[in-house]
Amino acid sequence: MDIIQPVRGTSDLLPADKAKHNHVIETAKQGAAQFGYAEMATPMFEFTEVFSRPLGASSDVVAKETYSFEDRGGTGLTLRPEGTASAMRAIISNGLTQSLPQRWFYAGPMFRYERPQKGRMRQFHQIGCELIGPASPFGDAEIIACGVHILKSLGVLEQTVLHLNTLGDSDSRQAYRTALIAYLEAYRNDLSEDSQRRLDTNPLRILDTKSASDKDILQDAPQLHRYLTPAAQTHFEAVKEALQAASIAWVDDPFLVRGLDYYSHTAFEFITDQLGAQGTVLGGGRYDGLAQSLGGPLLPAVGFAAGIERLALLGEEQAQPVPDLVLLAAEQSAEAAIFALGCQLRTDGYHVVSMLSGNMGKKMKAANKLGARFALIAGADELGRNCVSLRNMQDGTQTEVEISVLGNWLAQQR
Ligand code: HAM
Repeated sequence: MDIIQPVRGTSDLLPADKAKHNHVIETAKQGAAQFGYAEMATPMFEFTEVFSRPLGASSDVVAKETYSFEDRGGTGLTLRPEGTASAMRAIISNGLTQSLPQRWFYAGPMFRYERPQKGRMRQFHQIGCELIGPASPFGDAEIIACGVHILKSLGVLEQTVLHLNTLGDSDSRQAYRTALIAYLEAYRNDLSEDSQRRLDTNPLRILDTKSASDKDILQDAPQLHRYLTPAAQTHFEAVKEALQAASIAWVDDPFLVRGLDYYSHTAFEFITDQLGAQGTVLGGGRYDGLAQSLGGPLLPAVGFAAGIERLALLGEEQAQPVPDLVLLAAEQSAEAAIFALGCQLRTDGYHVVSMLSGNMGKKMKAANKLGARFALIAGADELGRNCVSLRNMQDGTQTEVEISVLGNWLAQQR
């Protein structure tokens, strides 16, 4: 029979991988908590409209990448491709639009039917922060500062560059859209197939093209910052001033447009050159119009998400926890007593791992591999005297200890 493999674009997180993921999640959660962001979670699937409306029908995510299906009752559902639309749906459906601001942190799996490669999966994991309520440019600056803080805490900030842009308000984008279309129409037949399609559906996304010849054409294209309304201009200047005051460095990137359609004003990405093509580690921006696309009120909001796989690739290996003790029964007749002793020691707070298979030599080898400080060894003879042997795994010395004083003995070794 064929061996069943994991689905393309998914992978198991074996203990070493999971330790890295957990380290990212815990560090990010703690960093976000320092800014007042509390962890919450939304369901892994939602009604399809939660994503199809705000993310934009012309966005790649909605057009090509969602895992959408009908459940057995015929309801259209989608596995979440990201967390922001769900967070806003949760604000509205939990009646929180009058209880703002809300500062939320989340972590969990997301699903996109993308072409898998290093750092790009079909089931991947994100940590994210959403600040819902404030329209102030200090909200944008706070979210970026929170991203900086988390990347710094993970020791990966130095490997990234913050790219910053503004997409302006809807008036700015409307004016720019007209100018960009007018410019690109002259090159329509020279554009890549993807960009020709986007010229009709979502011309701003052409700025994000991967095609070298499209990039050449874009060199002389009009830039959005010239079309900003005074209000949009003022907002962006204030964001930059706040970042400067906090000594947060960035590069202006007039071609930065995000892959999801709900953004306005500030858009940003922390990009690394160390992960090949999948260089965006953390991305986000302001999305004031998203709530309305879900039938809610106009609700200012800004946030970011970061790929845990990408952060884990950049970060350090995480050490596995080392047991205080490993247990080795010297013979079969001692196994039950040793098993019971192990249970008691764990209740007392020790980290204890049983060596269950193989002869003494094999068990000792496996014990060494775990890096435990002591091996607790006993056979029927020692147990008959209510004793066990404790072997110091570093220097090989062995001491016989009475079971009744084992707790004290171990406490002295800590
Ligand atoms: P996004 O740029 O689509 O934004 O994703 C954020 C991050 O998730 C990316 O920068 C990347 O690190 C990671 N990521 C995305 N797709 C994949 C994939 N297929 N495999 C591995 N990692 C991936 C959002 O999701 C927005 N919800 C961010 C946001 C929050 N904006 C406002 N609030």
